[in-house]
Formats: sequence, C-alpha cells, structure tokens
Amino acid sequence: MLLPRILALTLALAPAFVQAGMFPEDSTVKMLDAKGFRKAMKQNVTQVVAFVAPWCGHCQRLVPEYSKAALGLYPLVPTYAVDCDNAKNKRLCAEQGVKGFPTIKLFPRGGRVKPLEYTHGERGASAIYYWVTRNIPHGVKKLYNFDEITPWLEENKDKGRAFLLNNGKHIPILWQVLGNKYKDNFKFSVHRDRQGRSSEKMGFEKSKWGSSKVMFYPAGSMDYVVYEGLQKFDSLSKFFDSVIDGTADLRTANEEAKNEEFVPDEKELEIQRRQEAQRIALAHGGFNDLIDFEKAVLSGYNPHGPGHDGYPGMMGDVPKKEEAKPEDPIHKILKHQQQAESESAKAGQMAATAQGTPFEAASSSGQPQTATPPGTPAASPEPLTVAAQAESAQATGTSRPSAEADAARAKDEL
Ligand SMILES: *[C@@H]1O[C@H](CO)[C@@H](O)[C@H](O)[C@H]1NC(C)=O
Repeated sequence: MLLPRILALTLALAPAFVQAGMFPEDSTVKMLDAKGFRKAMKQNVTQVVAFVAPWCGHCQRLVPEYSKAALGLYPLVPTYAVDCDNAKNKRLCAEQGVKGFPTIKLFPRGGRVKPLEYTHGERGASAIYYWVTRNIPHGVKKLYNFDEITPWLEENKDKGRAFLLNNGKHIPILWQVLGNKYKDNFKFSVHRDRQGRSSEKMGFEKSKWGSSKVMFYPAGSMDYVVYEGLQKFDSLSKFFDSVIDGTADLRTANEEAKNEEFVPDEKELEIQRRQEAQRIALAHGGFNDLIDFEKAVLSGYNPHGPGHDGYPGMMGDVPKKEEAKPEDPIHKILKHQQQAESESAKAGQMAATAQGTPFEAASSSGQPQTATPPGTPAASPEPLTVAAQAESAQATGTSRPSAEADAARAKDEL
C-alpha cells in the first residue's frame, strides 16, 4: 500500500509546486505579489508584467517564450509575473483590469504612464521582445548632423545633458532606458559617429574610433566630462545618481566610476552566458525560437571567447589559441535544424507546426484564455498557416526588424 500513498502525497503537493515554480528558478522573470508590484511601479522605468494563472494552458505555453524575452531584456527592462490565482493578488489583478490569462502589460514609466496591453495574437519570444523595445519612451534626441550638436547643447543648457557618440544606426537600448529613467533630471541625445569623423572633430584620437563615448555636460555649462566608467546600466545609473545626489562633484563621481571594479557574481555571469548564446541565435536570424540555445550553452559554448578581458574563464576553461577548436555547438545545432527543416519542407508540410518555425503559431497564438476555473477545458486555438502568420505579423507590426542589427542593440552596452 506504499505506492498509492506516495501517489496521493505527490498529488497533494502538485498544485503548490506548480504555483511556486511556474517560471524556472534561473528565469530572469520575477514573481511579484501586490506589495512588490506597487514598489516596482514607483520606479520610473519601463517594466513588463504578465498576469497569469498557473492552471491556464496559454500561460504555461507563455512561460518559455516570456522567459526568453526577459533574458534578452535583462537587466534593462525588468520583467515580472503576477499569479492572479493567488488570493492575495486577486484585488491587484482586478484593479489592473485583467479579464483573461495571460494578460501582458507594459508599463512605460512605472506607474506614471498609462500601461499598454499586448494584444497581438501570437506570444512568441521575439514578438514580445520587440514590442517591449519599441515602447520605451526614451526621449533621446537623435542628432543626425554634427552641426546639430552645439545648438542642442545650448538649447538645453539649464539642465544636465548626457550626450552619446556612437557608431550604431539605432539608439542603443541601454541609452533609451537611461533616457527614460533620468528624463526628469537630464536631457539625452545621441549622434552617430560615422567612421570616427565626429569624434575626431571633437578632439578624440582617430584610433579610438568605434568605441562609444559618453559625455556629460553639467547644467549651465558647455564644458563636458568624458565618462570613464563601464558603459553598463548599473555603472551609468550609479554615475547619474551621484550627479543628481550632488554629494560628489562631477569629476569625483567620474573618478569613482573609472575605478569601479567589475566583479560580477556567479549568477550574473551565468545570465550573461545565456544572453550571449541567445544573441548568437538572433544574429542567425532566428532570435531564440529557431534554436535551442540552452542546449548550446550546456554543451560548453563560451560566449566571451578566449582572452575576452573583463569576463575571463566563465564556467569552463578558456581554450588555448593553438588548440583546434571543436565545431561551435550553436552552428552544429543550427545546421541540424536547417537540415530537419528542409526535409520537412520537402515533405510538403507548409502549415506552421510547433517546431521549426520562427514564430510558434500553434503553441502561442490565440486570444487570452478567459478566466475559467481550473478543470474547464480550454478551446485550443486554430493553428495558423504560414501565410496567415505573415499577414498577422504585418498587420500587428510584429514582424522582425533586421535581426543582425538588433542582435547588438539588445546588449547592456553602448
Ligand atoms: C520618479 O519621477 C518623479 C517625478 O516625475 C520623482 O518625484 C520621483 O522621485 C521619481 N522616482 C524615482 C524612483 O526616481
């Protein structure tokens, strides 16, 4: 009679387990209760919240997709989930107008700006990711021509001004996020440093071309300080905070930033490793739906490569340069998948099945499930055809922009 008893115990434990562990432990999605939600909303930053219920099938299918999007956004856009099935959160979910699960909401600037609801049919990682990155109210002014820089600095002289010289075509997400966070304190702009011409005009060495430069102009001044710290979210936030704080003068704050040692903990390193693998997948045009990037990481892919200063070693050893390198596991998996795809195409399977299509129509499409009690079977959504998918992507604006360009943009770097 031992067996039934164990079974009964397992069953009794199951619901609690599902609730506590809806997102895997290493997910960058943080579960919030009502109190945590209110605290988060006090931050003037863009954040995303998925309102879910553990029993809802669409929510369970959302978990891996949402987790991938969250990983890509980390640490620039905090991503959260609220379990609306928990009695303590019911009021919050009602206040937020949650009528079906999952409901994904983007809060552009904490609780200060009206939230946007994610209403696109498919809830794949890429679509969610791009929807978020397009909706950061950054307020960063793009200065296309060199001649626009001085007038912009003059115009906004009454405030501190943060100016970025950067080689990219897009405004880095990190700069957008900072522009949003410090909107009340400073003005932000960006200028594209084509072939280093602008930075040369500003007196920088030509050899430094390609590296991003952050200049800060204190309120009332046309003189700048070149920020010398790490061009990462935490470091730049610390610098801006100390400028606002005023306890340290600008040069001291900069000196502190310069001397800050980069000591990521093991958990952060692990997140960076997974992010890098995900980015590689994106650069191959598939973001993360196309590739099992976790498998690639597990098989020993070292994202930072040999000799990458600042992030040495990671979990495994840095391979020596002389050693013949084994085939990059990501390429291996990609090749394998492409093969499988061409085979299935040959077999005439044009309908979008769960595997092999960038957007997992069958598993992540459909309207939010209405809040039916547990046990009520949900109607399964109609699988979309490839054509219908493309159409709906066009209509809702969820089609992917240039994947390669975006691969670099997602970084916590300038
Ligand atoms: C958010 O912005 C408001 C002003 O718009 C400010 O009073 C408040 O201190 C800011 N909160 C944080 C956490 O920066």
